Amino acid sequence: MSGHGLEIQYEDLVENANSIILRMDMKGNVTYFNRYAEDFFGYRREEIIGKNVVGTIVAPTDTSGRDLKAMMDDMALHPSSYVNNENENVQRNGTRVWIAWTNKSILDEDGRVREIFCIGNNITRLKQAEEEILKAKEAAESANKAKSSFLANMSHELRTPLNAIIGFSELIKEEGVGPLNEKQKEYIDYIHESGKHLLSLINDILDLSKIESGKMVLEPGDFDLKSLLEKSLVFIKEKAAKHGIALSTGIEEGVGVIRADERKVKQVVFNLLSNSMKFTPDGGKIGITARKSGDKEISVCVWDTGIGIEEKDRGRVFSEFEQIDSEYSRKYAGTGLGMPLSRKFIELHGGRMWFESEGKGKGSRFCFTLPLSVGQP
Ligand SMILES: Nc1ncnc2c1ncn2[C@@H]1O[C@H](COP(=O)(O)OP(=O)(O)OP(=O)(O)O)[C@@H](O)[C@H]1O
Ligand SMILES: [Mg+2]
Repeated sequence: MSGHGLEIQYEDLVENANSIILRMDMKGNVTYFNRYAEDFFGYRREEIIGKNVVGTIVAPTDTSGRDLKAMMDDMALHPSSYVNNENENVQRNGTRVWIAWTNKSILDEDGRVREIFCIGNNITRLKQAEEEILKAKEAAESANKAKSSFLANMSHELRTPLNAIIGFSELIKEEGVGPLNEKQKEYIDYIHESGKHLLSLINDILDLSKIESGKMVLEPGDFDLKSLLEKSLVFIKEKAAKHGIALSTGIEEGVGVIRADERKVKQVVFNLLSNSMKFTPDGGKIGITARKSGDKEISVCVWDTGIGIEEKDRGRVFSEFEQIDSEYSRKYAGTGLGMPLSRKFIELHGGRMWFESEGKGKGSRFCFTLPLSVGQP
């Protein structure tokens, strides 16, 4: 008696559940259809029981052209592969819907599959949102690709005339084509300096777009990191002296030959040093330290006693075209490409780059690691 009562309770549950619940035989003919399914699909159960799902709640093909009849046949043969599946169904009025199904085989006494018990939930909205996100992502990616290739092409076209401007202004500046008066000297100097600045800007943009489009390749070679670091200080020596800035090095034992892309490492070190020069007021200090950490990598830091970086500005240092807006950044030229590019160069090598600063006026320390050899684990 009580078993019977339980059966009624279960029937009630299935009947009134807020999910599509149905059963079908191995040919795909509906044998049970709950109330929710009736409301959802728009068929009364007496209309659909005994009818095939294909042609009623399953269209012969879905909107992507997939043969759903074949899928249903396969499901009858291999029900275990369809325990959870998502597919497109169709309501009586023709509206396509996406349903997440959970399917369970019902076996007879001999263990043969007799029917399939299906519970479905409407995931149409979720599917649409998913599709929209996917479309938006694809659109963003293709726009980004277009931007990168545009930049790469433009940069290339811009460099050719620029090289003429730089080359010829240099020739004139050195009075190679005749003597100049003071005004001419001053103006030709502007042309030459601006040309060089523009060229380095274009090179940065070109590098960034190459990295973004995955076309940047490293050209690794063996070189002495210690001597690279020492030599790079020489470049800023004169300027440092002019501003009363003391330079120091702390390169530990064990920093020597590494295998990496020398030109890019040089560019990174140069970027860091020129930032330190830019953001350290007269009378300050700038230094380079390097040491082997573990037996797989080297860490290099460029530190200064300059203007420092406030907590709130941390996020801007490595983002493209961003500069921290202070009285200093207005005083010093720049585009805000140096750091993002440097970090990408280091990451291409499998290294990391970060910085530390105690805050405004307390100096900064920019560090990076490089594996002793690129391409080795
Ligand atoms: N050593 C430093 N001390 C204080 N602030 C720094 C230092 N290095 C970088 N920053 C801050 O991070 C910003 C981004 O640096 P980044 O090198 O990318 O740009 P930039 O030097 O202004 O321009 P660019 O390098 O493209 O000529 C700088 O504008 C500055 O605000
Ligand atoms: Mg810079």
